[in-house]
Amino acid sequence: MQVDLRQPWQIGSVEIPTRLVLAPMAGVSVQAFRRQGRRFGAGLVCSEMVSCAGIEHRNERTLGYLRVAGDEHPLAIQIFGSDPRVMADAARMVEAAGADLVDINFGCPVRKVTKTGAGATLLEDPERAARIVGAVAEAVDIPVSVKMRRGLGDGSRACLEVGPRLVEAGAQSLTLHPRSARQMYTGEADHRLTAELVELVDVPVIASGDVTSRARAQAVLATTGAAAVMVGRGAQGNPWALREIVDGDAADPSREEVVAELVLFVRETVRELGERRASGFLKKFYGWYLGRGRFPRPFKQELVQLATTEEVETRLFAAAPGAAELVEELEATVPSAADDVLLDMPISIYGGG
Ligand SMILES: Cc1cc2nc3c(=O)[nH]c(=O)nc-3n(C[C@H](O)[C@H](O)[C@H](O)COP(=O)(O)O)c2cc1C
Repeated sequence: MQVDLRQPWQIGSVEIPTRLVLAPMAGVSVQAFRRQGRRFGAGLVCSEMVSCAGIEHRNERTLGYLRVAGDEHPLAIQIFGSDPRVMADAARMVEAAGADLVDINFGCPVRKVTKTGAGATLLEDPERAARIVGAVAEAVDIPVSVKMRRGLGDGSRACLEVGPRLVEAGAQSLTLHPRSARQMYTGEADHRLTAELVELVDVPVIASGDVTSRARAQAVLATTGAAAVMVGRGAQGNPWALREIVDGDAADPSREEVVAELVLFVRETVRELGERRASGFLKKFYGWYLGRGRFPRPFKQELVQLATTEEVETRLFAAAPGAAELVEELEATVPSAADDVLLDMPISIYGGG
């Protein structure tokens, strides 16, 4: 049975136009990534995980994660933490920042996060996990969703015990990445578990893990009954993968198209993070993007060594002169971040000062 990936669906009252969700990824899911994802067919995009403690302490960099652009909607902002009250306060700020959904992270396997009692450890503490979801659902009017791993240890089925309790506590959607925290990214995502979770709950389930092609997306949707698939690593520097999954358009981008998308990405990221942070942040993206377009290997190494993004841009245009025109076209159609990106938060969010 073929599933139509262009068929809209809903989380609570939020309508999502396609069955593809762009994964939250720390160090990747900046605004430029999310906006590009929407343009290439993602129906829902998500911020990287934001620390609720960082929000509580008005940490400047943390608040930067709460910037929402006008053309990102629908957008989820993901928060992590272990204290129900602090999470509820953070959720209020997320709502005030203009997010359509607040997503709670019960999946992060990284020790820095789990040792604070947040992320995947909460899968082993269903009582506290449910209290967090309940407090967040109580605090905001927008729908609350949760993203989980299967459990902490290999073979764990904790998600099947916790999932229904989180729904009872107020979660209106669950995303499952069916690897254990211990597995990190090794082995395979076991979507048989996703199918079991779908049977247990009456809210939409999003299947995350190892979806990189239309064929795989179709297979996962058909065999699990999930409402949507989530794509993470497959979309890093490769928005064309999203188009292939949603529309079946498998045409390889030309060298000019690759350069044009990368240049736009660089410009927007500099606008968001500033040149100093952006130039380091962007380095990993050069290798990812230039996997397409038949660029010689030394070219990628050369880009990584350049000191400024301006030099990177010049070098990219030299390698694909036709791309400059494409960038102009893109900038004419994509609403300019300069007039469109809102930092639409009440002054109270900055603590008034
Ligand atoms: C670099 C990186 C950062 C990630 N950061 C987050 C995060 O902040 N929040 C989260 O819920 N999942 C995070 N994930 C997990 C992804 O959202 C996704 O569930 C996982 O990568 C499996 O999907 P994939 O096989 O399509 O990549 C991250 C994954 C990667 C590779």
